[in-house]
Parts: sequence; structure tokens; C-alpha cells
Amino acid sequence: MENIITVIMAAGKGTRMKTNKSKVVHKIYGKELVTRVVDLAERIGSDEIVAVVGHQKESVEEVLKGRVKFVEQKELLGTGHALMQAVPYLEGKKGKVVILYGDVPLIREDTLRKLINKSETESEYATLLTAIYDNPTGYGRIIRDIDGRVTEIVEEKDATDEQRKIREINSGIYCFDIPELLLAIKEITPNNAQGEYYLTDVIKIMSEKGLKTGALIVEDNTEILGVNDRIQLELLTRVLRMRINTEHMKNGVTIEDSNCTYIYDDVKIGRDTVIHPNTTIKDGVVIGENCEIGPNAYIREGCIIENNAKVGSFVELKKTKVGEGSKVPHLSYMGDCEIGKNVNIGCGTITCNYDGAEKHKTKIGDDSFIGSNVNLVAPVNVGKNVVVAAGSTITDDVPDNALSIARQRQLNKEGWSIKNKKTKKK
Ligand code: UD1
Ligand code: CA
Repeated sequence: MENIITVIMAAGKGTRMKTNKSKVVHKIYGKELVTRVVDLAERIGSDEIVAVVGHQKESVEEVLKGRVKFVEQKELLGTGHALMQAVPYLEGKKGKVVILYGDVPLIREDTLRKLINKSETESEYATLLTAIYDNPTGYGRIIRDIDGRVTEIVEEKDATDEQRKIREINSGIYCFDIPELLLAIKEITPNNAQGEYYLTDVIKIMSEKGLKTGALIVEDNTEILGVNDRIQLELLTRVLRMRINTEHMKNGVTIEDSNCTYIYDDVKIGRDTVIHPNTTIKDGVVIGENCEIGPNAYIREGCIIENNAKVGSFVELKKTKVGEGSKVPHLSYMGDCEIGKNVNIGCGTITCNYDGAEKHKTKIGDDSFIGSNVNLVAPVNVGKNVVVAAGSTITDDVPDNALSIARQRQLNKEGWSIKNKKTKKK
């Protein structure tokens, strides 16, 4: 494959977000919009990634530093002007440049690969990603000639009434041949309704030169959704949620209510596992087959849940391994904990993993039974086949096969209440 340089436009203002930082550093599912775009650029094998920053650039630089090259667009004079800032990274290069937007994070890797592939196999100098919209208002319209070849993109504000009826719109995502793009952007002028340098003008410039241009129509329009306000931010979160949940369901996971099941990126879940509502599963968690999770479970980063395990209601887990067949059925916090196989963790049991300065580990051996409302003060090791009495506060290691009771003996003072109540009445 040829050299690929990806340019990410992220200089825009985001006025409607009403934010003190760049809109592209707002998060969906815990990850900044622009970080998702950079992830994507890396996954398609970009040799270089250039981010065009401007408005609130410090916030963008902070989240992307070390991963991309930055160029600054000091004045927002349009998408063509934005790309001009990246010219130093394109000059003298052969191959393709892919244009992405910092606020359009849900494009599928597969779609971009198809776009690049189309530009290569069909020898196109510009390949656009387009979509068919029922209501195309506001978008650039795709003009094709009688043979269906793309000849031009006309912005809404510059379009004739006839052109406004066109329902094929420009997503703003493209793959260009680098040398020809560099020639074409020199010819862009701001002679249009908005007085901007339109990147879209390069299509007309190229096609008038006789250079082949084409378009790939995206199958799933949600891929090209962008974020301009917090309502769209929520919409994209919802789209991503459904996309991730659908993938798990296709793989044999039962999700009782997809609307309130929040599975973050790169989670693995085995077959026949059932996820009850109001469950959150953070990035990278691994869950085995035939497990039961939730309702109201919060499984944070670094957790591994093995086959046939149960993590029930109001249970929070962090950096915890739940061994095969083990159960944490209700009201527990297990952090930095390694739970063996066939362990039962009683209701209300918690690990006290943090001493105010550092986190410490708890280990619980196979076949152990931890009674209700036990505090496991880490670092602590509970052996195999142990029984810990309910209400215990375990500060010392427990050997295999032991019963551990760490609470005060109960004292019953007979007749105390009658006497005490009488004294009070006097
Ligand atoms: C652009 C396209 C339009 C397309 C639409 C898709 C042009 C002229 N028009 O519209 O055909 O349908 O995207 O959403 O390209 N940006 C900068 N610097 C600038 C201007 C924009 O970095 O000077 C960034 C913005 O932050 C944003 C992206 O470019 O991420 C698109 O800008 P926006 O103003 O939303 O797009 P339009 O120009 O309206
Ligand atoms: Ca408790």
C-alpha cells in the first residue's frame, strides 16, 4: 500500500457546545472525540497524522501530544484554509491523504479502508465519502455528470434551488492523491457566499483538469454524524452504545435492555452471558461464557470475569479477577482483588484496598466462603477453602481450610432494657 497521511481538522470553534475547552476533547464513552479519530487514523495504517488546531488548541494538544503532528490555523478561513496549514507535511510526498474531522468520530475503520481502496483500485485523484439524506439541508451537495461522475460539490449557501434538491451530500471525509491535491489547493479562492476557502472546490478543479474523481456512498449514515452541541454529543453516545451492544448480541451475549447497558470499547464477553439492565462495563474488561452480570453492576477497568461467574446488583469491581464459578451477588466493592474459583462473596463485603496513599491487593483462594459484610483490609491473603464469619474485619492472612472470625463476641445483658427505660422515665 501507498504512503497514507491523515489530516484531522480540529480548529473549529464549537460555539454551541458552550464550553471552555475545544469541542473535540469532549468525551463519548470516556474517550475524547478527537482521540477516537486519531485511534481510527492509526488503525488504517497512517504513516503520519497531522492535526489542524486553532480554537482552544491547548486542550487538543494536551490529549494528543506524542501521537500526532500539530499545525495551527490562526484564523478560521474555511476547510480549504485549514488544509493549507498542513501543506508542509504533504510537500514532496507521494501517496494518499485522508481528511478526517475531530468532531466526526464514529466512522468505521472498514469504511475508511473501502474509501482508500476505491481511490487506489479505480485510480481516483479524489474519492469522497458521501451519504444520501432525506433532508440534506446545510450540507454540500454532490453534483454528478450524466455518466454519474462527480464533478463538483456545491455548498448549501451557493446552491441553486435545483441543486438544493440533490439528496447526496458531502460528509467532508475524503481521500486525495497528495501531489494533485497540493496543486489544486493553490487554486482555491474565497469567491463564494461565505467568503471562505472551501476545500470542496478542489473537486471541481480536479475534474476540470480531467482527473478522475469518485464517491463512496456510506451505508450507515450514523457513521458521519458530527458533534456541534451537547445534544449531538448524547446522540453519538447513543449510536455508539447501540453499535457496541449489537456487536455483543451478534456474538451470543444476551442484553436485556440495550438502552441502559453501557459497554465501553474493546470489551470481550463470552457466549450465553446475560447482562441485566443498568450495567456499566468499562474499556477492555474481559468476561467469560455463561456469566450473569447486573442489574446495577459497575465493572471498571482491568477486570477479568471467568466462565460461569456471577456479578450481581450494586457491585463495583476494579482491577479484579473473579474466578470461574465464583459469585459476587450483591452490594460489594472489590478492588485490586484476585478471587479464585467457586468463591462466594457475601452481601456487603468490601475490600479496603486504599490506605489513603496507596492501593493494596487482596487474594481469596478457591472454594472459600466470605460471609456477609466482611471488610478485607488489604494487603491480605485469604487461603483456599476458608470460611470468614459475617461481619469480620480481616487484617491478617487466613490459612487454607480455616474459619476466621474477626469481630467482638456478642454480649447480651439480660433485662437491661426494662431497667434502662424505667430509669429514663423518672
Ligand atoms: C463542510 C463541507 C460540506 C460538508 C460538511 C459536512 C466545506 C466547504 N464544506 O461544511 O460540503 O457537507 O462539511 O459536515 O468544506 N474547520 C477548521 N477550520 C476552518 C473551518 C472548519 O478546522 O476554518 C473544521 C471544523 O472544526 C469542522 C470541520 O472543519 O470540524 C468542518 O467544518 P464546518 O464548518 O462544520 O463545515 P462546513 O464548512 O459547514
Ligand atoms: Ca459493608
